Amino acid sequence: MSVKILDNIFWVGAVDWNVRNFHGFTYSTHRGTTYNSYLIIDEKIALIDSVYAPFSKELIDKIKVVVDPSKIDYIVANHVESDHSGAISEVLKFAPNAKVLGTARCKDGLQKHYFGNWNFQVVKTGDEVSLGSRTLKFFEAPMLHWPDSMFTYIEKDALLLSNDAFGQHLASSGRFDDEVDEDILMEEASKYYANILWPLSAFVTRKIEEVQKLGIKIKMIAPSHGIIWRGNPMKIVEAYLKWASGAAKKRILVVYDSMWGSTEKMARAMAEGIISGGVETAIFRLPVSDRGDIIKELLDSKGILIGSSTINNGVLPTVAPFLDELLGLKPRNKIAAAFGSYGWGGGAIKTIEENLVKAGMNIVSPALTINWVPTYDELQKCYEFGKEMAKKVQ
Ligand code: FEO
Repeated sequence: MSVKILDNIFWVGAVDWNVRNFHGFTYSTHRGTTYNSYLIIDEKIALIDSVYAPFSKELIDKIKVVVDPSKIDYIVANHVESDHSGAISEVLKFAPNAKVLGTARCKDGLQKHYFGNWNFQVVKTGDEVSLGSRTLKFFEAPMLHWPDSMFTYIEKDALLLSNDAFGQHLASSGRFDDEVDEDILMEEASKYYANILWPLSAFVTRKIEEVQKLGIKIKMIAPSHGIIWRGNPMKIVEAYLKWASGAAKKRILVVYDSMWGSTEKMARAMAEGIISGGVETAIFRLPVSDRGDIIKELLDSKGILIGSSTINNGVLPTVAPFLDELLGLKPRNKIAAAFGSYGWGGGAIKTIEENLVKAGMNIVSPALTINWVPTYDELQKCYEFGKEMAKKVQ
């Protein structure tokens, strides 16, 4: 079913209730997602983005309810990635005269994905295309989150079609922010930011400030995933500015894995120390936790303790992927420390600390390491270690 979002503007996207992994299993989508495509009916007809290819027929059927697809004049490709461009080839079969609009990088990317001889018009920041009563205005948004990314803006409705930015992986029966649970919505929006946009925070801040300086009004933000922000669209813009700044709660995560339980005992004693210092904590044992969820929790936490038993002079193989993920995300303004047990030689804490430094995190305490099984006194040391960490986020 297509959904009218404004006069003569319709959501014609698809809800993917069952997808549980995105970006090649790098992002867990516990609540599914949507691929949002928007149809604008005017003297000229424009489709803004498409959907993931398996949903092509759904898209075409939804368009047909509103208008004959052969009448589409423009397909705006705000972004190359397959979840938004996957159905363009199919739409073009029904709309052979449609012109595809996108950035120069988008043109190159689409050609390399679909090898189509499409009628393509390159657009850049400030370019406008009149549909009649409405005009599409384009803003390049490189690295939000790919180099080709672009926003489309319609002044008449103060509508920003922001593609991936401000999206969430959230399948729902409602299409708008005021039709879904607000806490779930913001949880998914923060997970999306943490896992996709976090390393690009400088670009996020710069782009938002640039748009703010232009003084353009925004009454509605229609991203390409999840719900449309219409109640208070500035809520998500302000949240992005906060996340990009590195601001977070007084909370310290304890993330670890343990071979025979010694590092686990350390983790639990450290968490007790953090709590006794009046600071919130959460413990995640890596093999039984979702990495994407931990990353989301880290976005809103001031600190993290990472622990591992030593194996082969390094960290457990279950800890290494999390360290790799931190290297890519480069979390800003986080304090961190390492811990772990060892039998002989050691090495886990060295590996953790090296990775924390490379990830740009602020190591605020020398690592704590314990030989074999921690004694009562050694667990007391872990407790004090957690308590000291708590002081550093006050
Ligand atoms: Fe960058 Fe939703 O694709």
